Amino acid sequence: MLRPLLLRTAAASAAALAASHAAASPRRSGTDAPPPPLFDLTGRVALVTGASRGLGHAIAVGLAEHGAHVVMCARCPHALEAARAALLEAVPRARVSVSAFDVRDEAACVGAVAKVESECGRLDILVNNAGVNERAPLAEFSTASFRGVIDANVVGPFVLSRECAKAMQRNGWGRIINVGSIMGTLGRENLHAYVASKHAVTGLTKSMAAELGANGVTVNCIAPGYFKTDLTQPLQLNSTFANEVCSQTPARRWGAARELAGPAVFLASESASYVNGATLVVDGGMSSTFHFSE
Ligand SMILES: NC(=O)c1ccc[n+]([C@@H]2O[C@H](COP(=O)([O-])OP(=O)(O)OC[C@H]3O[C@@H](n4cnc5c(N)ncnc54)[C@H](OP(=O)(O)O)[C@@H]3O)[C@@H](O)[C@H]2O)c1
Ligand SMILES: *[C@@H]1O[C@H](CO)[C@@H](O)[C@H](O)[C@H]1NC(C)=O
Repeated sequence: MLRPLLLRTAAASAAALAASHAAASPRRSGTDAPPPPLFDLTGRVALVTGASRGLGHAIAVGLAEHGAHVVMCARCPHALEAARAALLEAVPRARVSVSAFDVRDEAACVGAVAKVESECGRLDILVNNAGVNERAPLAEFSTASFRGVIDANVVGPFVLSRECAKAMQRNGWGRIINVGSIMGTLGRENLHAYVASKHAVTGLTKSMAAELGANGVTVNCIAPGYFKTDLTQPLQLNSTFANEVCSQTPARRWGAARELAGPAVFLASESASYVNGATLVVDGGMSSTFHFSE
């Protein structure tokens, strides 16, 4: 399902990347290599999972706006096509491909990464954003449901990171961005699998950062608070809860998906070259404040 708009060899692609960065940085001349522009992703290839809607789509648009060739992943091919059209409407000059696969399917993950490399010539940025949630009291939480969440939220990102890191280490440059949650450091009733999975994402971020840092590959985590997406629809529809989010968040409102684009572009870019193993909390201040009324 991968449909690149432009096919290039790895060598040509690397040369183009160097040239575009040199052209975009006219500040220095002579034999000194110019410093790469801080937020420019021109020539980079990014694989974004869960990019057909919600936070992943907003992240894909942000990366494309800054010049990256984005490969959008989700399970539903029709939703992906619509998402690709929407991205091209937002960023008409974007280079965007789609790749329909399930992050719980190891063979599909391995194949998808190989296909991005062969068709785009490189793979610089991985955004592990696809994720699911199941809500139930502990006594009613089935083992199958628990395993399903762990497979999608933890095992999928682990397999994709392992596969992408091989190419990134070869190139001496790479960015892995895991979308965790404020539930990666906090607990909440009925969310047993989700909370466990997001704590695991925080930990996997740190262990991979420790191992890949020496090869120019950084691994960081974005921890969103409450954003209006399909995932949080049941919470948005509960007006008591929806209002509590506003009253307990210093920003006094829910997050909008586009507010994750900047944090993702930052972590994917040259700006974040010395940021590794970090979790960037993007929650309007909710998890850093104490909420009980007097
Ligand atoms: N929304 C929030 O407030 C919030 C807060 C904290 C953290 N997060 C995290 O942010 C990430 C995105 O959340 P969201 O709110 O944008 O969710 P969403 O609106 O439900 O979108 C989920 C995306 O992931 C894809 N997806 C789901 N399961 C997949 C699988 N097994 N394989 C491949 N793709 C899959 C979906 O497409 P298909 O269904 O077609 O596969 C869709 O594109 C998740 O990791 C979530 O835990 C969200
Ligand atoms: C709505 O949210 C409130 C506050 O979190 C909670 O007490 C209540 O049980 C929720 N209602 C439903 C129907 O889930």
